[in-house]
Amino acid sequence: MPAGCARGPAAAAAVGDRRLRLARLLLVLLGWVSSSTSTSSSSPSSSSTSSSSLSSVSAQPPPQPPPPPGHCPAPCECSEAARTVKCVNKNLTEVPGDLPRYVRTLFFTGNHLAVLPASAFASRPPLAELAALNLSGSHLQNVSFDAFEHLPSLRQLDLSHNPLVVLSPFSFSGGGGSSNASGLDRSSLAELFLNNILPPGYSDLHNLSFSGMVEVLQSRGALRNLVRLELSGNNFISLPQEMFSALPKLKHLDLHNNSLVGLGNLALSNLTQLETLDLGNNALKTLYNATLVQLQALPNLRVNLDSNPWRCSCELADMVAWLKETNLVEGKTTLSCFSPEKMRNRPLVKLNSSDLDCGPPSLVDPLQTSYVFLGIVLALIGAIFLLVLYLNRKGIKKWLYNIRDACRDHMEGYHYRYEINADPRLTNLSSNSDV
Ligand SMILES: *[C@@H]1O[C@H](CO)[C@@H](O)[C@H](O)[C@H]1NC(C)=O
Ligand SMILES: *[C@@H]1O[C@H](CO)[C@@H](O)[C@H](O)[C@H]1NC(C)=O
Ligand SMILES: *[C@@H]1O[C@H](CO)[C@@H](O)[C@H](O)[C@H]1NC(C)=O
Ligand SMILES: *[C@@H]1O[C@H](CO)[C@@H](O)[C@H](O)[C@H]1NC(C)=O
Ligand SMILES: *[C@@H]1O[C@H](CO)[C@@H](O)[C@H](O)[C@H]1NC(C)=O
Ligand SMILES: *[C@@H]1O[C@H](CO)[C@@H](O)[C@H](O)[C@H]1NC(C)=O
Ligand SMILES: *[C@@H]1O[C@H](CO)[C@@H](O)[C@H](O)[C@H]1NC(C)=O
Ligand SMILES: *[C@@H]1O[C@H](CO)[C@@H](O)[C@H](O)[C@H]1NC(C)=O
Ligand SMILES: *[C@@H]1O[C@H](CO)[C@@H](O)[C@H](O)[C@H]1NC(C)=O
Repeated sequence: MPAGCARGPAAAAAVGDRRLRLARLLLVLLGWVSSSTSTSSSSPSSSSTSSSSLSSVSAQPPPQPPPPPGHCPAPCECSEAARTVKCVNKNLTEVPGDLPRYVRTLFFTGNHLAVLPASAFASRPPLAELAALNLSGSHLQNVSFDAFEHLPSLRQLDLSHNPLVVLSPFSFSGGGGSSNASGLDRSSLAELFLNNILPPGYSDLHNLSFSGMVEVLQSRGALRNLVRLELSGNNFISLPQEMFSALPKLKHLDLHNNSLVGLGNLALSNLTQLETLDLGNNALKTLYNATLVQLQALPNLRVNLDSNPWRCSCELADMVAWLKETNLVEGKTTLSCFSPEKMRNRPLVKLNSSDLDCGPPSLVDPLQTSYVFLGIVLALIGAIFLLVLYLNRKGIKKWLYNIRDACRDHMEGYHYRYEINADPRLTNLSSNSDV
């Protein structure tokens, strides 16, 4: 019995050991399967389980992949360290939708955009840090009214060297039309570059791009935080009076290389923060008191007036006087006359009133003056002659009668003599007596 008892537990132990091994094998097998499925779902690139992973991916709806932090759209170059993305000279026709979220500076120059649609830079989540956007030279024609929506940090925008036909006043207002009115308060734009944005063939001031631009600048509040505005190379001939009145924080205004013939009554007095005003390379002939007074009243201003065709006539006198006094004008001693010919290249600050022909206006030249004078003298003499005749009309009448009588007497005497001469008898007599 004890033997049986003794053998019994041993046999039972052997059976239990086999079961344990089986269970272990099962567990191991189960464990391998479960671990392999978990690895396949976590790393789809694993080659050994590609079939199972593919089936699992196709079964689920594709989860919207947020671009991983290091992602860069194919045609662009990205630098996370510099927070900069460059998509330059790639002839791109649209803005890639998957720009990295860290971007602060985006160069999108030298492309073929043509149209910038609404929300062109909107993405989810938004490009919350994008501060500088350079779209220059990208053949841009139409900028939609909410093209720059969802760019809460945009500070600097360069649209230069694009033939802008359509520029909406709401483009810069942080989503003017679609969002609520307090959208204007969000306008963070500080620097706007609109150099050389005239479409070819559009020189008329009343063209879309110009009137669009004026509307943009004047739309209340839209650009009220603007500090720098560049408008060079746009063939402006004159500017509307209130063009810059809604830009109270403006410090730098660049209007060089236009065709401004004067500033007319352009209102500058609201620009109390203005520090630089570039009017170089225009067609200015003179500046009048209305402008000079406004310029002189701005406390921190420096003005550039280089390369303008100043006309050194009496009209320049006020400006010359101002120029001698002021210290607003950069390099004022280099400004010089362009016309008239005899004054060409004379420095403006060295002109005095005798140079500027401000004497009594002489309407005609000296030779003509002498002819006019001669005419007047002759007319006077004629008038005096007629007057004398009129005053002496009685004496003249008498004198005329006297002459007539004298003539008649003379004629009668002549007749008498003729009659005597005609009578043959008397002729003979007289001839005899003569002999
Ligand atoms: C862009 O287009 C111009 C002509 O339109 C071509 O000369 C240039 O090679 C193009 N650049 C790229 C990057 O495709
Ligand atoms: C924008 O890019 C153009 C072309 O590279 C460059 O000339 C211009 O200075 C840039 N604008 C700004 C504001 O940096
Ligand atoms: C730009 O807009 C104007 C008017 O809205 C339209 O006539 C023109 O075709 C547009 N240009 C482009 C390139 O879409
Ligand atoms: C307007 O915008 C402000 C914040 O910009 C927001 O708090 C408010 O709810 C908005 N109002 C409406 C009517 O959308
Ligand atoms: C713009 O100017 C061009 C050339 O001066 C002219 O032909 C065109 O009609 C103008 N367009 C508008 C809308 O005034
Ligand atoms: C001046 O502006 C014209 C366009 O109006 C442009 O063609 C020219 O290159 C500009 N010149 C300079 C020196 O910037
Ligand atoms: C500009 O100044 C005038 C008076 O000098 C004022 O009536 C007007 O409201 C000002 N405009 C702005 C936008 O501040
Ligand atoms: C311009 O202002 C100066 C100084 O205030 C004054 O002497 C001059 O007469 C003014 N010129 C005109 C045309 O009003
Ligand atoms: C004005 O300047 C000319 C030379 O530029 C000089 O000959 C003349 O004496 C000056 N007249 C006065 C009043 O200063």
